[in-house]
Amino acid sequence: NEIYLSGLGGTVPSLPMTAAGLEAAAREQLSPEAFGYIAGSASTERTAASNLRAFEKHAIVPRMFRGAAAPDARDLSVEVLGTRLAAPILTAPVGVLGLVHDDAEVAVGSVTSELGIGSVLSTAASSTIEDVGAVSGDNWWYQLYWPADDELAESLVRRADIAGAKAIVVTADTPGMGWRPRDLELGHLPFLRAKGIANYLSDPVFRAKLATPPEESAEALQIAVLTWVSLFGNHAVRMADIAKLRQWTSLPIAVKGIVHPDDARAAVAAGADGIIVSNHGGRQVDGAISALDALGPIASAVGHEADILMDSGIRCGADVIIALALGAKAVLYGRPWVYGLGLAGADGVRHALRSLLADFDLTMGLAGVSSVGEIDRSLLVATSGH
Ligand code: FNR
Repeated sequence: NEIYLSGLGGTVPSLPMTAAGLEAAAREQLSPEAFGYIAGSASTERTAASNLRAFEKHAIVPRMFRGAAAPDARDLSVEVLGTRLAAPILTAPVGVLGLVHDDAEVAVGSVTSELGIGSVLSTAASSTIEDVGAVSGDNWWYQLYWPADDELAESLVRRADIAGAKAIVVTADTPGMGWRPRDLELGHLPFLRAKGIANYLSDPVFRAKLATPPEESAEALQIAVLTWVSLFGNHAVRMADIAKLRQWTSLPIAVKGIVHPDDARAAVAAGADGIIVSNHGGRQVDGAISALDALGPIASAVGHEADILMDSGIRCGADVIIALALGAKAVLYGRPWVYGLGLAGADGVRHALRSLLADFDLTMGLAGVSSVGEIDRSLLVATSGH
């Protein structure tokens, strides 16, 4: 309401109102390295493109004069994996935010906490788990890239638990990085790494592996980076290893990066409480199925046993509605707020998130829906798409 009224009053916002506008402004204003890192996807980037196009295969059919709630009575809230959120939206885990803005994950955690929505902190963060936990309120989850050392994995999970995370998200689609031409062309991978290892450098299990503290010299830091590289990828994790996570924490566990219903079934059988349908924004397997196309079959397969979330391609309020109608309880929002962070720090994150929230709220209300729980497939028809 506030956003809308300030527009009616003639105030011109300092940042663009749409995801596409934020991306265009970021392309102009961020360094080529930072922009390429955020915008880039795997190989030809066709999965990244089809993530967006998939939403056009579904159309909302708004309903009229049926007593839908007035704006102040609309209920956007939802409970997912035991976390109560003011709206079914969390910020996706995005690593190395220090490359984009110095305030990085601390800015994101404080803004999402202020708005009452969720956030998921990346393992590859530029800020420590403890610093982010201190500002993120009760609505944040921790994302684990399972390192090739279980003792280190356990240490990260326990730190997140102690710092106040309310769920653990284990990312399954990244045993190693995808083929990312934009990052390779800009030649800044070493820089990226050094900005994304705060939670290794601050971890006692990791530090015990280093002969010299990384703070002591440039050479010692370089050795720490190489040690991180040797530990980052883990091709040995199996779905059954979710049971290990269960020993390390009593928090709800979600597996992120699932697009096959059988993998969703296996994750739930191994003890996962949630599935995040995602193809990592098209950054891992180019040519992969769009996340939205994967959502419906997974919701049918395990939606009665686990909380389903989705990401990869959410750009506007209608996208949130379509994902919810196809079986997601909540969505993770990715790139647009990262552009906001790069453009204006915490203010930019707030702007991007409030714009999505307002768009979602208005679109839901105008479609004749009073609460998130009412959103289901009956609101949609299939279109021919593109
Ligand atoms: C990501 N993503 C990601 N996922 C994850 O589990 N851990 C991580 O550290 C990161 N890092 C990361 C960095 C950047 C720059 C991007 C764009 C993405 C994937 C992220 O959580 C989410 O799946 C995608 O961003 C969804 O795609 P869209 O909607 O942003 O295109």
